[in-house]
Parts: sequence; C-alpha cells; structure tokens
Amino acid sequence: MCGVVGYVGSSPATPIILEGLKKLEYRGYDSSGVAVLDKDGLKVEKKMGRLAELEKALAGRELDATVGIGHTRWATHGRPSDVNAHPHTSNDGKIAVVHNGIIENYLQLREWLTSRGHVFKSETDTEVIPHLIEHFYKGDLVEAVQKTVSHLEGSYAIMAISVDQPDRIVAVRQDMPLVVGLGEGENFLASDIPALLKYTRNCYLLNDGDVVELRADQVVIRDITGKIVQKEIFKVTWDAEEAEKGGYDHFMLKEIHEQPRALRDTLKGRISHKGDKVILEEINMTPEQIKGIKKIVITACGTAYHAGLVGKYVIEQLVRIPVEVDIASEFRYRDPIIDKDTLVVVVSQSGETADTLAALREARRRGARVVAVTNVIASSVAREADDIIYTWAGPEISVASTKAYTTQLVAMYLLALYLAQHRNTMAAGNIKEILDELKELYVKAQDVLDNEAPIKEFAEKYSQHEDAFFIGRGLDYAVALEGSLKLKEISYIHAEAYAAGELKHGTLALIVENIPVIALATQQSLFEKMVSNIKEVKARDARVIALAMEGHTEVEKVADQVIYIPKTHPVLAPILTVIPLQLLAYYMAVYRGCDVDKPRNLAKSVTVE
Ligand code: AGP
Repeated sequence: MCGVVGYVGSSPATPIILEGLKKLEYRGYDSSGVAVLDKDGLKVEKKMGRLAELEKALAGRELDATVGIGHTRWATHGRPSDVNAHPHTSNDGKIAVVHNGIIENYLQLREWLTSRGHVFKSETDTEVIPHLIEHFYKGDLVEAVQKTVSHLEGSYAIMAISVDQPDRIVAVRQDMPLVVGLGEGENFLASDIPALLKYTRNCYLLNDGDVVELRADQVVIRDITGKIVQKEIFKVTWDAEEAEKGGYDHFMLKEIHEQPRALRDTLKGRISHKGDKVILEEINMTPEQIKGIKKIVITACGTAYHAGLVGKYVIEQLVRIPVEVDIASEFRYRDPIIDKDTLVVVVSQSGETADTLAALREARRRGARVVAVTNVIASSVAREADDIIYTWAGPEISVASTKAYTTQLVAMYLLALYLAQHRNTMAAGNIKEILDELKELYVKAQDVLDNEAPIKEFAEKYSQHEDAFFIGRGLDYAVALEGSLKLKEISYIHAEAYAAGELKHGTLALIVENIPVIALATQQSLFEKMVSNIKEVKARDARVIALAMEGHTEVEKVADQVIYIPKTHPVLAPILTVIPLQLLAYYMAVYRGCDVDKPRNLAKSVTVE
C-alpha cells in the first residue's frame, strides 16, 4: 500500500506533489520520489527514508516544471533503498512511472524484456511497467499504457509521464484506489482524497480498468473497453483529517474494516493454483531441515504474542510438533533450551520491537533457525531472520494492532499447513479443506463487520464499568487474551482473560452482579464445557455476551446476548471471533471519550527494552 500523486497545470508541480505525498504518508513511508517534465526533459529524484529526506535532496533545486508524478512507498518487492524507490524509468530514460500495488507476473515480464535488451536497475516488480510502456510506445502514451496493462497480472494504480508527450499524465487503476481532482486550468491525481483537499473538492472516482489522460485543461477517461466515458463529479465534504481516515472517525476503525482486504492480500500467491498446497517462497529451508525440526518456539510481544498462542494450538494440532510460546522479554533472559533442531518463530508487526529483536538474536546465538513473521519489509527482524513470512496488512497507524493480528494468524495457518505438507502429517484432502475455507474467510470477515450493531449496543450499555472479564477454552482462550488486551489498552477498563475452566479455582470470586463477561464459545468440541462456564458466571449475576458459531443456538439459553460468527473450520475461527472483540474495545473506548488512536502511555513500536 503506497501513495501516488500527479499534477498537470501552470504552477510548479513539485511542491504540490510533495504536499500531497505528506497527506498520504499513512499509506507508506519507507522511501519516496518525484519525476517532473520541464523544458530540459525528465527530472527524477528519489530517496530512501521519510519524505523529509526527499525534501532535503530537492532543496535548492530549480524545479519549475508544471507536470509531475510522485510516490511514497510501502515496500513489497525489494527492500527500501534509493534504487528501489519510485519513480522508475524506461530503458531510454524517456518514460517515468509511479505505481501502487503488486505486479504478480513481473518475473516473467522482466525475463521477456531482458531477452529484448532491456536493463533493469531495481529489485522491484514495478520497474517492468515503464519498460513495457517503452516497448509498446508508437507515439501515443494512452495506447502504450493500454497495451502494457493488458500484459499485467495483479493490482495497480499507475501514473506515467513521457518526454515525448510532456503535457499530460496517463494513469490507470485495477484493484487499487485512484481519484482525479478537478481544478481551474490544472488537474490532479492521487491514491486518496487527502492529497487533493488543499486544492479541490471536486473529484472523479475511477473504476477498475479506467485509463485517464490528464492535461491542464482537459481530463479524458476511457473505460476498460477503450470507450470515452463521462464521470459524475464527486463533491468531497470531509475535512483533511477525516479524509486520511477514509471517512472513519479513527485509524483503528478504518484498519478494522481493512481486514478483508488484508486477509486476501496476505494469501496472495501463497496457495497453489489447484488450491491444495501452501507456497512460501520466503522460506528457504530444505525438506531435510523441515523434517529435522524437533521443537518450535514462538516468541513475540503484546498482540503478536497472542497471535503466537493461536499458532501453538494450530501447529501442534496439524503438525504434531511441540510448540512453546514465549513473551520475548522473558525468553531472552530465561536461558531457553534452544538448539539447531529448534525452529524459532518471531512475530512482530513493526519488526523493530526491541525485546523481540533481542529474542531473535538470542535464538540465533544458540544455533536455532529463525523465521520472522512481520509486516514491514526489510525491518530489523526481517533483515536478521533466516526466513520471512510477510503479512500484507499495509501500514498500521493506530497503536492498537488489529489488521496486523489477523494477518499474523493467516501466517500461522500458512506455516502450520506448510510444515504439515512437508512432514506428511496431514492428508492432502484435509489441507485443501482448510485452504478452501481460508480463501473464503475475507468474505465472512466482511459479514462480521457488517453486523456491528449489537456489539455497539453492548458497548454503550457497559462502557462505564471499570472491570470486565473474557473467558474461553482452547483457541477461544487465546483470542480472549487478545480481546482483553484491546479493551485494556484503548478504554483503560481493567479487563482480564481466563481459561474458562480456571475460573472456579479463584477468579470466580471477582464475578459480581452486572459485571460484563465476554464468553467465547466457537469451538464445537468445547461448546458444552463453555455453556456450563457461562452458567457459572450467570449464577453470580454477571452480564454475559457470548460469541458462538452460527447454528449453536443453545447458548442463547444461558447468555444475555449472543453474537454469531459465520460457520468456518474450527482452527480458522479466531480470525472471525476477534473482529467483534476489536469492535467492542473500539466502541467502549469511544463511549468513554478515550483517544482511541493514541492511547495513554503506549507507543506503536516499542524500540526500547
Ligand atoms: C498491540 O495493540 C500493541 N500495540 C502492542 O501490544 C504490540 O502488539 C506489541 O508492542 C508488539 O509490537 P510488534 O508487533 O510491532 O512487535
């Protein structure tokens, strides 16, 4: 998820593009660049690091060009670097392109272009685009772009400029956002509305396949068939901050609603065409090494640690290898029993958490192989691990982690199935059954998101309580821990999660009249047990909201309120079960007037011990 901006007009393009990129930094901020066209031709400047590095590099340069494109990056293919930063140019240096998205067939296209004499400079998927445009260019940039996209597989919002037609930008979108901003004698393009709001509130919203030819005094849009179409003007009423949040009140709510997309992106290219095998290209272990694993240790902090707990249940169940899960700040000092036959999995959204990084180094020092599950390309954890599984959640701005957690669960499922298929601990049919369900999960996640009203209602009713309890068994217990952390960290309610069977050994003493209890009962094999645990807390007049899988209506007899999640494979239920808990924490915090995105005492990435 990157941010792209374009301008054609009579004002200097560079400052306008930089201003727009600043508004899109929430989409990615590991490198940036601009390309402009002036009387001397094409000028390109790009820098690794935050936008400020690019501004420094541009300072003092006379850039009065009035046509240009810009990009702020969230690396997917090729680590953050000056060379991998956008814009990328064609072999002849006449065409520049910025791109948001992933070109899935870039390796084949690169080989084909290389065999025709094209020379590539970067590690990115994007660089094939300007080379293809050059290949198809016969004097008409629109035509060259149309031919180019007919060869691309994947998602993209592309902007291209050419020395030969210096008065325009040609742009196209497929599965990635792109909007046109309409001005007087100038026009704009951007990934998202925040980049345009300073200049205009009149926009064209583009459909997949639309090709835009943008000039200072004219905007021509052709649909996927090539036919010129007239768009309706979309008048933006949001203010800038609202726009960055895509119209949501907080980044947390926006990121909760981005989960269906994040789940789909994290699965992309990782399930074989026949749908019966997991493909993890970033894992470089030999079949012998995989068979030689005697123990797995998952280590992380906070929400990432909770994802590891789900990983333990799933890996032990599907791969039959003993799995320990350790809080990183404990792992690094407890003299862990780790050796060359141990696979250590470190999980970190930011990839920069100090305790997790130290745990990784400790594991390596003791001879273990380390797999990193992280959301940030080339982060420290990614750079120091032996193997990586990237989660494609996109930038997570809100301190409370949501979409990173569910994509970490996807990574746990993929790792478990990958190990199972290499160690033959599962029948191919069972692997396919889970993969089929996993591929459909984003649809069911959307169903859960569309049913937030009863959760909001419960939150409004109980948001003034200072204590709350989460109970569950098995996988539900692991998810209950995450639900209680979400509630604690943004609403400041003292929430605790317990293995439901443990209540009667002490904690039940804390269950008093009207105290909210969130009971997770999604696991078929443990359902009856959970029903009796709910009866236990109800007997002390607790107020119970239960989460159950569709069809398990018996729970209605014992709980005050029931939230049903769509039917799915029991091991996959955590991805659907946590979403109502994220929403519950969010609305509780909103009703208590908390600063949801920046909760007190917390930071998004904890880089100190
Ligand atoms: C979760 O909402 C918190 N922000 C925090 O617990 C977080 O999960 C923890 O600090 C680990 O961060 P990481 O995934 O970036 O390593």
